[in-house]
Amino acid sequence: MFVTFEGPEGAGKSTAIRGLASALEANGHRVFVTREPGAGSFGTKIRALLLEEGDVVPEAELLLFLADRANHVETMIRPALAEGKIVLCDRHADSSVVYQGYARGVDIEFLKRGNAFATKGLKPDLTLLFDLDPSVGLSRISEGRDNNRLDREPLAFHQKVRDGFLDLASQEPARWVTLDATKAPDALCADALSEILSRLGR
Ligand code: TYD
Repeated sequence: MFVTFEGPEGAGKSTAIRGLASALEANGHRVFVTREPGAGSFGTKIRALLLEEGDVVPEAELLLFLADRANHVETMIRPALAEGKIVLCDRHADSSVVYQGYARGVDIEFLKRGNAFATKGLKPDLTLLFDLDPSVGLSRISEGRDNNRLDREPLAFHQKVRDGFLDLASQEPARWVTLDATKAPDALCADALSEILSRLGR
């Protein structure tokens, strides 16, 4: 089962994924936790290029995310799924549609074709949207870890990101589940776990 986690900055995806991995493993499932951009040694190099300071045009930014995704899907995600693992992936193709498309203005249909090319058609079985007001998310991250180049975009950019995710979720309700990311971390993780377990049981 391929599960992706999407949402604005500071929504608590990484914390929830750690909790989910432990809970699923305790239930006897084998789990592979990963993220985009930045899985593996190739992904680590691309992540550094993407998140450090410097001018990069949206088209080049997109191609780097797609390069990371293509390598990640082929060398890590597909093999883990073939071994029967539950793959928990922190951001994936929908982040490109939203950040590079809805927020930066790259053509959405082109992005969808680019994603299909990079993933060779692999789509998540379930996408959990950790939804919250971007001003809340940004204030959370400014209190914590270092910000990256995308975190530092203006609030209007992050508002487009949130709206973009909500729009994608409404277009494909069978794949997406929207969670209230203002909840306490334990409650949010429990909501995510029950969505995954209910799909596994089907
Ligand atoms: P990261 O520190 O992993 O952010 P987060 O903890 O919020 O997931 O940084 C990844 C950044 O890259 C994040 O701002 C979202 C952005 N991004 C894109 O713009 N396009 C993409 O395709 C992906 C996967 C991420």
